[in-house]
Formats: sequence, structure tokens, C-alpha cells
Amino acid sequence: MSLNAEELFSERALASRPSEIRELLKLVDSPEIISLAGGMPDDRFFPIDRVVEASTYALREYGTKALQYGSTEGIKKLRVLLGSRMESEGVRGVDLDNVIISTASQQGLSLVSQIFVNPGDTVIVEEPSYLGAIQACASMQAKFCTVPLDQDGMKMDVLEEKLRELQKANIRPKFVYTCPTFHNPAGVTMTAERRRQLIDLADKYNLLIVEDDPYGEIRFEGTSVPSLLALGGKERVVALRTFSKISFPGLRLGWIVAREDIMKRIVTAKQAADLCSPALTQYIAYEFISRGWMDEYLEVVRQEYPKKKNAMIAALEKYFPSGCTWTNPEGGLFVWVKTPDNVDTAAIFSEAIAAKVAYVVGVAFYPNRDDNSHMRLNFSAVDPEHITEGVHRLGDLLKTKI
Ligand SMILES: Cc1ncc(COP(=O)(O)O)c(C=O)c1O
Repeated sequence: MSLNAEELFSERALASRPSEIRELLKLVDSPEIISLAGGMPDDRFFPIDRVVEASTYALREYGTKALQYGSTEGIKKLRVLLGSRMESEGVRGVDLDNVIISTASQQGLSLVSQIFVNPGDTVIVEEPSYLGAIQACASMQAKFCTVPLDQDGMKMDVLEEKLRELQKANIRPKFVYTCPTFHNPAGVTMTAERRRQLIDLADKYNLLIVEDDPYGEIRFEGTSVPSLLALGGKERVVALRTFSKISFPGLRLGWIVAREDIMKRIVTAKQAADLCSPALTQYIAYEFISRGWMDEYLEVVRQEYPKKKNAMIAALEKYFPSGCTWTNPEGGLFVWVKTPDNVDTAAIFSEAIAAKVAYVVGVAFYPNRDDNSHMRLNFSAVDPEHITEGVHRLGDLLKTKI
């Protein structure tokens, strides 16, 4: 008898959606296609020599410790370093016990949804929202309550309206998930005023906030805004951070800040997931940061990425048909484009691939409805000339649809 695995899969596995981005990226993996999809840092700026030096030193200095299992919480000196880095950003009251090293932010999202979400529980997310967060919550069979965002981030009046509705229906949301700074996919940043409103609402409705902030340190214009963790403290906020964009995704490292009772559950869930994050990359990260090389690298990124973003905005203005609008981010990696409602960005994706340009279809970022009039464009991974050419090709395609 042949084995039919479908009969064996858990309800959780059957409820999980494959990542549309990953599926689409398979199509894009060809050198002639200009990919404005994905969300990768530009690896031409990776300081390989520095990383070689940090890695060699890490192996020589920490030797067997770097190659052994480490503690689930992570290497102490790295956690201390991250704690003090966050203190300099205005975060108070974070001790060693409040910091755990994760296998990058995606694991943070996965652990947080595991420890809070039962099947059918409600989580509040921005609309649109980071696809990986939607996936992590969906795999725990969460229901999504969505709150739209605008130029200033999540709309607090709508959030309050939804919170009232949930309260009336006797539904306690497990958390509010937000990517407040250089949002993925929208590129917008929640204003300080809205952040304070969010903390006030969290106090009023006794909410937990999950702040996912991979891009905050990639600000190249404007003035910085305090993090939700800095404003609301660890009592109300679980913060997810990652090295993926401020250094290299290949390290597969991030960190989570949470209060002790939440941290205990995160540690147990992480033990079941992977025992610990790699000690070797933690030591490399420690050396890379403590020698000031991460800040040096970030300076290069903050100098180079705006050139790419400006090339993208200029090309959008020049080549996109009227009726299209877009965000103009002060940092991060993404521009979010709205096309006229009659243009279905999912339906024309294959034509874009035929024209040798790729983007991410907007619908991937909507957990509750089909919005087909957006596309996410990435400017970090491509050089300005190719950004211009890619946007030109997309603009020509869009003009045939309007
Ligand atoms: C908002 C957001 N959260 C989390 C992640 C996950 O990244 P990583 O697991 O590499 O830290 C990403 C990656 O693009 C992201 O944009």
C-alpha cells in the first residue's frame, strides 16, 4: 500500500500557506531578469575582509566554544552588547534576562506566535503586513483583525474602533503585531504621535504589542522616531530585532527582548525548535559589532541605499503612468506602489517576467482579502541603472493596461 501523507498531516500543516514570495522568487532566479522582488541587502557592500577577520578571530579565540552547542538564551557577551546598544537608543530597564538570541527574526515571529496563539485566536496586524508574520501566525491557525495604514503608519482611530468591536464580541486579541519603522511592504514609518497613541491604547485595552523592527537602523533621511519598546517598555512590548539587514542574513541571527514571564516561554519554545542559535555566528557577530565594524558597514549602507531609492523614485515619476502612486521611504528597503484598481498586479506578473522584470504582488501582504492593486518594489539589492531600467520596463507594461 502506498503512503498517503495527506492523511497524516496535522491541521496546522494543512492550514499553512506556502510563501508566495518564495514561490515567485523561483521564477525570478535568472540573470536577465531585473529583480525588484525579494528583500535582500546589497551584497556588494558586504565587507568580506572584515568578516573573514572576525570569523578567524572568533575561531581562534573561542575555538571549541564556537563549535559547541551554546545556551538556548545565546552567548552572554553578545546579549550584553545588544542590551547596551539598545540602551543608547533610549530603551530602559532591559537586563540580560530580557534578551535572547534567536535564529533571526523569522524565528522570533514563529516563537511568539507559538506561545500565544491557539487555533482561532485573533491577532491584530497592519494591512498590508509582512508576509512572514502572516505566515507564522497563520501556521498557528490565527484569525487576523486588520488595521489599514497610511503615510503615518497604522491608523489609530481604526485600531480603536476594531478594539471596541472585539471587546463587544468578547474577543481578546493575543497581540498587536506591527513593523512600525520602514514598514515591509509599505515603506512608511509610524509617527511618534501614533506610537504614543498605540501605547495609550495598549494601556487602555490591556494589549501586548509585538514590535518587529529589522530596518530602524537603516534610516538615511529624516529624523529618527523612538521605538515602541523605548516608549512602552518591556511590560507592554515584545521587540524582535535581526542582524539580517543591519549586517548579513547569512548569520541567521536576531534577538528578542521580552519581560521575564514571556521570556521563559520563549526559551522553552526555542529549545523545542532548535536548542540554540549557532554559537559560531554569534561570536562572529560579537566581534563584528564590538570592533565597530557593524557601524562602519551601516554608514556605507546609509550612504548608498538613498542613491538607489532616489533612482527608483525618479524612474517611477518618469515612466509610470498617471494614476499610480507610491510611498517615498526615509529608510529601509521598499517602495509600495498603488496602481489604478483596474490593473491586477497578480494577473500581469507573468507579463512582467516576460518583460524581464520582477516585483512582489501586493496581495501576498493581505491576510483577509484580495487586494490586487499594489506591488512591492525593492531598491536595496539592485544598482541604480538597473533600478531605472526595471522601473522603465514595468511602466511600459502598466501603460498597456490602463
Ligand atoms: C518585517 C520583517 N520581519 C522579519 C523578517 C525576517 O527576517 P530574518 O529572519 O532574516 O531576520 C523580515 C525579512 O525580510 C522582515 O521584513
